[in-house]
Amino acid sequence: MIKNICCIGAGYVGGPTMAVIALKCPDIKVNVVDLNEARIDAWNDENLDNLPIYEPGLAEVVGQCRGENLFFSTDVNNAIAEADAVFISVNTPTKTYGVGKGQAADLKYIELCARQIASVAKTPKIVIEKSTLPVRTAEAISNILKNTGNGVEFQILSNPEFLAEGTAVQDLLNPDRVLIGGEETEEGKKAAQALVDVYKNWVEPEKILTTNVWSSELSKLTANAFLAQRVSSINALSELCEVTGADVNEVSKAIGTDSRIGSKFLKSSVGFGGSCFQKDILNLVYIAKSYGLSQVADYWEQVIILNDHQKKRFAMNIVKTLFNTVSGKDIAILGWAFKKDTNDTRESAAIYVADELLNERACVKIYDPKVKEHQMFSDLDYLKTRTTEENRSLVTVSLDPYEACKDVHAIAVLTEWDEFKDYDWQKIYDNMKKPAFVFDGRALLDQEQLAEIGFVTYKIGKG
Ligand code: NAD
Ligand code: UGA
Repeated sequence: MIKNICCIGAGYVGGPTMAVIALKCPDIKVNVVDLNEARIDAWNDENLDNLPIYEPGLAEVVGQCRGENLFFSTDVNNAIAEADAVFISVNTPTKTYGVGKGQAADLKYIELCARQIASVAKTPKIVIEKSTLPVRTAEAISNILKNTGNGVEFQILSNPEFLAEGTAVQDLLNPDRVLIGGEETEEGKKAAQALVDVYKNWVEPEKILTTNVWSSELSKLTANAFLAQRVSSINALSELCEVTGADVNEVSKAIGTDSRIGSKFLKSSVGFGGSCFQKDILNLVYIAKSYGLSQVADYWEQVIILNDHQKKRFAMNIVKTLFNTVSGKDIAILGWAFKKDTNDTRESAAIYVADELLNERACVKIYDPKVKEHQMFSDLDYLKTRTTEENRSLVTVSLDPYEACKDVHAIAVLTEWDEFKDYDWQKIYDNMKKPAFVFDGRALLDQEQLAEIGFVTYKIGKG
């Protein structure tokens, strides 16, 4: 029976996932550990508004469990030593060097965790892959644990996470399914059952699926690939809608009512972002290539190619519409997060659209309700397209949306934050340069109402 959990990695997955386990399993002690001291300090901040991650409902859960059975600390060794089960929830970014650069997942943080668990563990442990990993990673983890450990017994499970940011707490409280992959040995089955028993505290047994380890690892990459593929499919059609006079929202609705297709993930956008879709598809492409399956690799790579095209064509359409030059023109960007209800900006389409506009020497004014200024500059600096000084001279960040839109030639809506719909658009129009343009990359605003005010509008996927 699992009584003490250690989770290595206090990020977007480790933090919320463990908070919900602590909430639903008051008899289990949950230690969430991380090397990043600032992050742990923020998780321990008395003011729950200062948690490092913004997710609706998360502060309430953390407030309820923290100090009771949920603890955040940098003492990784101690937490591993105490635990019956160790979740690995560290980041697995795309490799930026060496073999597989730009495609394969960088597993250095995973390997470091495995080595640390092996060296610290003095009692048997269940080691659980929570991070998204290439199929057959459990084999490598198992080798490290067995060859560098102190002779204690380890069982390795794959338990990928399917939460989406912005709805993480709801997704965790009420998951579509929980997936647990384990070895098909007696000990493997016992370990999987121990983890099933944890989830059974709040998830219906029929939603807890058990598989072999490789199926579980591959299912996670597959789920993300399928979701991203739907977005790229509808985005491909958005461009065709624009040239033919169709409306992609109407097309989505029409096809989504077919129960075989389903209505979710058919919202056309300026392009998908987030830390995982691109990384996981690139990883799938790399795995397929490494087994010599070039047609399989090419098929999935197209999802990324289309997504890059969507971001670029959105930016280029702004330039074209503003009389083929944006040099010296002010453009407001509403929304920097990769989707609403999160402060996460990783791979956000906004970063790439801003970058294209800055390349054309536009002056960009950004507003986002949850993203901090230092994060926006760090995202732009990371691209290394311009110097830090150039970015600071061309970009201003505003804490007030009306201020951000004042005196600009155009507004680009890049995140679907609900509050954008409620703005006083007449007031925004009155304070803009004319003609006043709105480029709606999320099909969020009422285009007719904007046109009545006097705006020239572009809505993604509408001809
Ligand atoms: P993240 O970057 O927010 O968090 C990872 C944390 O791990 C960081 O705080 C980092 O400091 C810490 N870390 C790295 N190495 C460590 C070590 N050796 N010891 C202690 N701490 C260490 O990443 P994330 O978004 O939480 O994603 C984690 C994994 O979960 C990835 O594999 C990702 O693909 C997967 N995933 C993410 C989401 C999501 O919505 N973000 C959803 C499902 C799955
Ligand atoms: C996604 C998956 O939905 C999760 O199941 C998975 O656990 C997670 O990746 C992960 O592995 O990290 P997330 O990236 O947080 O979750 O958010 P999504 O809701 O999937 O949105 C991803 C991107 O696609 C966003 O930029 C969003 O705006 C865009 N999107 C989504 C669209 O453009 N159209 C849609 O119809 C849906």
